Amino acid sequence: MKQQLETIQKKAREALEAAAAPEELEALRVRFLGKKGELTAVLKQMGSLSPEERPAMGQLANSVRAGIEAELESRMEKLSAMALDLKLRSEALDVTMPGAEVPLGHKHPMSIVLDEMKEIFIGMGFDVVDGPEVELESYNFTRLNTPEGHPARDRQDTFYTTEDDNVLLRTQTSPMQIRVMENRKPPIRIISPGRVYRKDEVDATHSPMFHQMEGLVIDKGITMADLKGSLTQMVKLLYGEESVVRFRPHHFPFTEPSCEVDVRCFKCEGAGEVSGRTCPTCHGEGWIEILGAGMVHPTVLEGCGIDPDEYSGFAFGCGVERMTMNRFAINDLRLIFENDVRFLNQF
Ligand code: PHE
Repeated sequence: MKQQLETIQKKAREALEAAAAPEELEALRVRFLGKKGELTAVLKQMGSLSPEERPAMGQLANSVRAGIEAELESRMEKLSAMALDLKLRSEALDVTMPGAEVPLGHKHPMSIVLDEMKEIFIGMGFDVVDGPEVELESYNFTRLNTPEGHPARDRQDTFYTTEDDNVLLRTQTSPMQIRVMENRKPPIRIISPGRVYRKDEVDATHSPMFHQMEGLVIDKGITMADLKGSLTQMVKLLYGEESVVRFRPHHFPFTEPSCEVDVRCFKCEGAGEVSGRTCPTCHGEGWIEILGAGMVHPTVLEGCGIDPDEYSGFAFGCGVERMTMNRFAINDLRLIFENDVRFLNQF
């Protein structure tokens, strides 16, 4: 019996030493100390011992049990210390490590240029106003001195949304001239950027949707000199002091006189060719058209209840895509809408 107890003690010690998890320790406790455990089995044989042998054996059995219990406990402590150590190690944080990079977006090139244009005009005392893209025919055409029968009103040119052609997607931001003159008294100084629509096929320079920025100034004594001064200033602030502008006579139904404004081509500096070839940017023109403008037609002023003998003003409308393409030397309009990050990342 003594030998049996010593064997149990030895086996238990070895098994406990090898145990690697708390569950294993529990299994060993059951195996050795449990009700049906090995030690219990030996103790059950105590009855067969002589009364002289019993105390010594009892003592030995107790010390074996105490030994296994103590061993279990210390092993358990060791295992949980190891587990904690492992956990701490795996969760360790190196505060000197560089942080994960969060990709940061930035403004679209169109927004960059639009914001710059707004900044320039706000600096000259203009308000920025917003208007509807679905517009009444009368604001888009009739009240802009573009009566029925005018070729600009061709169904091929615009998107009409009703059978009677009374409602359309605006083809220009100029209806904002009427909306503002209806609602404000002179002096008026506004710009109004926004989307406009025309029935165009998509190619490198056309899209059925594009952006314009309208400008309107109405006050006493406004002349063509104010128009030229303001627009020249805009071009120089946007494209640089060295840029050259040209005012070319033109016709718009709602302005008189009217003009178009060109900037000298940045690529060929007006020569029309680069190293013996036709300039790819201005197609040999030497100039790039950026906007239409003119003195507000007296008929338009009258239609909005403004006396043309007392007040005069100028208006302009420029293509924001065109301004952006010139500003950043972008050669294809479609790049602006495709949202390819390889393109957008360059700004
Ligand atoms: N609305 C005209 C266009 O789309 C531009 C323009 C605006 C011309 C204001 C004169 C005055 O071509």
